[in-house]
Amino acid sequence: MHTQSRILVVLRRRVGMDTTAALKPIVMLLFALLLTTAAEGVDPCATHDDLSIMHVYGRCSPFDPPKPEPTWANTVLDMASKDPARVRYLSALAAEKAVAVPIAPGQQVIGVGNYVVRVKLGTPGQTMYMVLDTSNDAAWAPCAGCTGCSSSTVFTPNSSTTYAPLDCSLPQCTQVRGLQCPTTGSASCFFNQTYGGDSSFAATLVRDSLTLGTDVVPNYAFGCISSTSGRSLPPQGLLGLGRGAMSLLSQTGPLYSGVFSYCLPSFKSYYFSGSLKLGPAGQPKGIRTTPLLKNPHRPSLYYVNLTAISVGAVLVRVDPALLAFNPATGAGTIVDSGTVITRFIQPVYEAVRDEFRKQVHGPFSSLGAFDTCFAATSEASSPVVTFHFQELDLRLPMENTLIHSSAGSLACLAMAAAPNNVNSVLNVIANLQQQNLRILFDTINSRLGIARELCN
Ligand SMILES: *[C@@H]1O[C@H](CO)[C@@H](O)[C@H](O)[C@H]1NC(C)=O
Ligand SMILES: *[C@@H]1O[C@H](CO)[C@@H](O)[C@H](O)[C@H]1NC(C)=O
Ligand SMILES: *[C@@H]1O[C@H](CO)[C@@H](O)[C@H](O)[C@H]1NC(C)=O
Repeated sequence: MHTQSRILVVLRRRVGMDTTAALKPIVMLLFALLLTTAAEGVDPCATHDDLSIMHVYGRCSPFDPPKPEPTWANTVLDMASKDPARVRYLSALAAEKAVAVPIAPGQQVIGVGNYVVRVKLGTPGQTMYMVLDTSNDAAWAPCAGCTGCSSSTVFTPNSSTTYAPLDCSLPQCTQVRGLQCPTTGSASCFFNQTYGGDSSFAATLVRDSLTLGTDVVPNYAFGCISSTSGRSLPPQGLLGLGRGAMSLLSQTGPLYSGVFSYCLPSFKSYYFSGSLKLGPAGQPKGIRTTPLLKNPHRPSLYYVNLTAISVGAVLVRVDPALLAFNPATGAGTIVDSGTVITRFIQPVYEAVRDEFRKQVHGPFSSLGAFDTCFAATSEASSPVVTFHFQELDLRLPMENTLIHSSAGSLACLAMAAAPNNVNSVLNVIANLQQQNLRILFDTINSRLGIARELCN
């Protein structure tokens, strides 16, 4: 790692997450130093390994933030404002109201993708930054020549010696929605999916080598997008880490033994990256775990058994039925890498929020999706929120509990109720609440592990 990056890591570790705000000027100064160094030709991003996970608008990601360049707080607010669409999608998925979506059609339906992972597609490998999505199975990438794709990073099939389109007769092809295969004769597995009412995209199901760190997965099936119409697709590709039939875990079979973990870097971390670790090797030993629950109707979603929530020393009174797992209705709690802030169904959120407000000095105001904002000077009184999962308690670090306004004067409880008009029965543990934690998915033993890890 770059020396100055290391200094900053050490600094952040020493001061701890809760007091970083106080050191903001120093951190900003170091950022300025880092940027200067980068401008002089030493690129700290070059040292990031493949399988680094970075924020989509982080310094080492090729994607440009919306202009004018917003502050981090505004970026988070903006991203959180796209959560309702994703939560609606996940709720519909959980309740089996949605049609199967093996190839997810992009942000308008799957919601924002705010963490990307660096992988390579093809031979020789072409670097792609794909959105990490634990609630989808399939992968797709914008391909060269795509009409309507707005991307700087596209996959160029004709530069790969291992690329091949998949034929309509193959079993993988039958799992695709919007299939446009001829009834007789052979053709490539071409499909056109509509979404959002007025938009559509066309893609071919193809296979090519996927390089993940030092591992090469041959013949990995993914959607190669050739055209989009209507609102444009997000520029990133998508790497589905669900556990259904088309997922990375299913396609890699014994290679990773159904195990992976990730550590998401802090939202505030502009320069640093977390990591995706695939397979049982190198996973934390003795990590505390909770059972993963299976919804046979929605095999891609990672359900866990959230049994209660504490705010400070108070166990919040919530009717257990509101948290109970029910495969028939889709009710329960999932851990998701693509939703920004944790969403609880209305009565659960209100109970948590009301208890939180009792313990913090008001008055309270709203900011974007957040309805419990208060003067940052009262932050010291902010209680620890604990998620009680079966056999595992997660005490949220303060940076995973509060978000600050761009001016820094307000702190907000970074959680919300399921969006309006979503008759949701699904609670979603989102990625702001997962920062600087290693989340281990062991699908073979059906366990989800959580351990504190400062990965930025
Ligand atoms: C590959 O495809 C691109 C875009 O379709 C085209 O411009 C280029 O000439 C092709 N290269 C080869 C080697 O066929
Ligand atoms: C998909 O099909 C619809 C209806 O046939 C068509 O209007 C649209 O242009 C197609 N979309 C793409 C991206 O090819
Ligand atoms: C969730 O955990 C509670 C408490 O341990 C237990 O009673 C319940 O049966 C669990 N639910 C499922 C679906 O395993």
